[in-house]
Amino acid sequence: MNKSALITGITGQDGSYLAELLINKGYFVYGIIRPSSLFRIDRIDHLYSDKNIREKKLKLIYADLSDSSSINKIILNNNFDEIYNLGAQSHVLRSFEIPEYTTNINSLGAIRILDSIKNSNFKSKFYQATTSECFGNSELPFQNEQTTFNPCSPYGAAKAYAYNMTKNYIKSYDMFATNGILFNHESPRRGESFVTRKITISVSKIHKGLQDKLYLGNLSSTRDWGYAKEYVEAMWLMMQQDKPDDFVVATGESHSVREFCTESFKYVDIDIEWVGKKENEKGINKKNGKVLVEVDPKYYRPTEVHSLRGDFSKAEKLLGWKPKTKFKDLVKLMMKNDIDHL
Ligand code: NAP
Ligand code: GDD
Repeated sequence: MNKSALITGITGQDGSYLAELLINKGYFVYGIIRPSSLFRIDRIDHLYSDKNIREKKLKLIYADLSDSSSINKIILNNNFDEIYNLGAQSHVLRSFEIPEYTTNINSLGAIRILDSIKNSNFKSKFYQATTSECFGNSELPFQNEQTTFNPCSPYGAAKAYAYNMTKNYIKSYDMFATNGILFNHESPRRGESFVTRKITISVSKIHKGLQDKLYLGNLSSTRDWGYAKEYVEAMWLMMQQDKPDDFVVATGESHSVREFCTESFKYVDIDIEWVGKKENEKGINKKNGKVLVEVDPKYYRPTEVHSLRGDFSKAEKLLGWKPKTKFKDLVKLMMKNDIDHL
């Protein structure tokens, strides 16, 4: 019989790629969507508008991670083989503005699911979307499964709590639950307020004469950016193991926001020269001296994770997973998409 899976956050970047992957593998996918005044399912519209998929392979259910009654109803009444908890308030800067809400969804949301599985008659496997943001400012050059968590945002702290509770449920109730500790991953489906997509959309608009300038926050922070479509394969592989375990998923490379900008402008044949320091730093078009990038401190965070770089050797050894798309190719594929679709 075909397997079934429940995805929270199916309308998000990762949820949409995971739904595609599972449907292609023959799963019946149930996806949780939030009630809202508009039916916005842009990222999975190509799946939902396919009659064959909608009738035989995909069911969308209204629920909210803040509402245990809706979560219980779904989990107690369905024998899912796998449950992927990808739903979250996933924006780090925003988590400083709405810390209580972020904790409710990102911490308690996970517990609501774990407890429902525990109270159900089924043995559904559970995947928790843990994040490299939990490491905070680690002094190690690479972070892996052994690196201490030291979160420095409400988002990171809430995710660290969910990570710990996931481990606690494994030990206390002999559940299959796994933490995927994923480093930043991007794609043409990335939300437009995350830095990579903000850059690729703005550079595309500047190229087409639709925007003058791009305003950013901290240009010097570095991230380990991979391709989201490949990262959902790692999630699935973690759930196919005999025993639950934690895995870091990353590329092992780290690049600054400044480099991401330079590379994006290169795609449209603009050479950027960086002049000035901190909030006075500017990105200038070498050819004509026009200022194309400026810093706006409103994008700074109260506390910043300055640098992240992941060691994915455990995932490579035990899951046979490794990243294929590295930094420059990722920038190219995001730039191509935004130029083509503007
Ligand atoms: P995303 O694009 O922001 O998607 C978040 C999803 O969560 C959306 O489907 C959203 O629904 C849903 N959601 C938000 N609040 C909810 C609530 N109260 N109840 C139910 N669903 C809710 O995030 P992503 O980039 O795909 O990331 C997926 C997961 O991985 C998140 O948990 C994120 O924290 C984690 N993560 C992401 C990265 C990364 O670099 N992308 C790295 C590590 C971990 P709406 O569409 O209705 O808003
Ligand atoms: N969003 C944003 N907007 N970030 C900016 C900007 C800007 O205008 N300017 C500079 N940055 C810097 C941020 O300060 C941060 O250091 C870096 O760019 C990346 O920011 P985001 O793209 O917002 O991602 P994030 O690293 O904070 O969080 C993402 O990755 C986490 C994994 O480490 C999110 O997807 C999280 O949900 C995820 O867990």
